[in-house]
Amino acid sequence: MRALRIHKFGGPDNLKLEDIPIPSVGDSEILVRVHAAGINPVDTYIREGAYAALPKLPAILGKEIAGEVEDVGEGVSSVKKGDRVFAFLPENGGYAEYVACQQANVYPLSEKLTFSQGSGLCVPYFTAYRALVTKCHIKPGEILLVHGASGAVGIAAVQIAKAYGLTVAGTAGSIEGMDLVKKVGADHVFNHGEKGYLNNAVAAIGGRGFNVVLENLANVNLGADLTVLDQHARVAVVGCRGTVEVNPRSLMLTEGSIIGVMLAGATKEEAEETAEAILNGIDSGWVNPVVAQEYMLDEAAQAHHDIIHNSGARGKLVFKL
Ligand SMILES: NC(=O)c1ccc[n+]([C@@H]2O[C@H](COP(=O)([O-])OP(=O)(O)OC[C@H]3O[C@@H](n4cnc5c(N)ncnc54)[C@H](OP(=O)(O)O)[C@@H]3O)[C@@H](O)[C@H]2O)c1
Repeated sequence: MRALRIHKFGGPDNLKLEDIPIPSVGDSEILVRVHAAGINPVDTYIREGAYAALPKLPAILGKEIAGEVEDVGEGVSSVKKGDRVFAFLPENGGYAEYVACQQANVYPLSEKLTFSQGSGLCVPYFTAYRALVTKCHIKPGEILLVHGASGAVGIAAVQIAKAYGLTVAGTAGSIEGMDLVKKVGADHVFNHGEKGYLNNAVAAIGGRGFNVVLENLANVNLGADLTVLDQHARVAVVGCRGTVEVNPRSLMLTEGSIIGVMLAGATKEEAEETAEAILNGIDSGWVNPVVAQEYMLDEAAQAHHDIIHNSGARGKLVFKL
């Protein structure tokens, strides 16, 4: 099979397209013929060797895929050959034509979604759900700021929060991104490149501040987030690429909390609850991933450049196989 592998940690040129054997399936595993593999910022952190959990080399990157069941292990009864599925790959492996997935991490893919959409469910939607529902305990009627709403996690957060009855303000860095954030359901949209946008956001929601903030770039925004909170607000730190200075006094005034979010930190029970909610959301129609761009495997270096360096996000980047 064709697979993108790295033999050493470093820049995008280390992603090598190679022919390697199709993996065998263990007893509790499902072999999936991959039709689309989600590309996530974390794949680039791993590729660089700048992540806490690094794989043994050579390694195939990729945390999430969608495709069709090719084969199942002896202990698997949940799916059969030919079923459409999507899957989470905690140990990576998605950038390949076939991947052996743990049964517990494989979910049925509705006909309502394309394979490319399906490859953008497990990381963005499960993370946004963890941030908003599991960690911040969002309630109907609350007001949420999604700081960085035009990317994969941000769009998921907007869709989840609207389904849970919140008022949502989202930010993007381009006109196209702002249009998209509005289209996926945000009540208010602001450009995080414009001076004074947070003050405008607070004014738009009536001046009291936000009950919840989902922060996708904490190293830039966390200090400012703490100045736009209502009493007892929660700030979920989902994305962070460096250090930041904050004034804790803002938290004292509102008795607010900053909560770190890590998808990999979910317990088995939390992962099951999350999956059930997202599968229900797909059935009901409010979970609807937006694919910004599909890449071929031989465009891997470009794809890894784009996911980190491109501004003006418009949803999810995926490999189409
Ligand atoms: N904690 C976890 O378990 C977990 C799980 C998944 C992802 N993450 C992290 O979450 C972050 C988002 O992931 P993603 O897949 O959604 O990435 P993505 O699709 O590349 O989206 C990045 C988002 O950040 C926005 N952004 C850029 N500059 C910003 C600024 N100054 N202020 C606010 N937002 C800004 C982008 O908006 P424009 O391009 O429109 O400017 C875009 O909406 C990444 O850092 C990722 O590593 C963490």
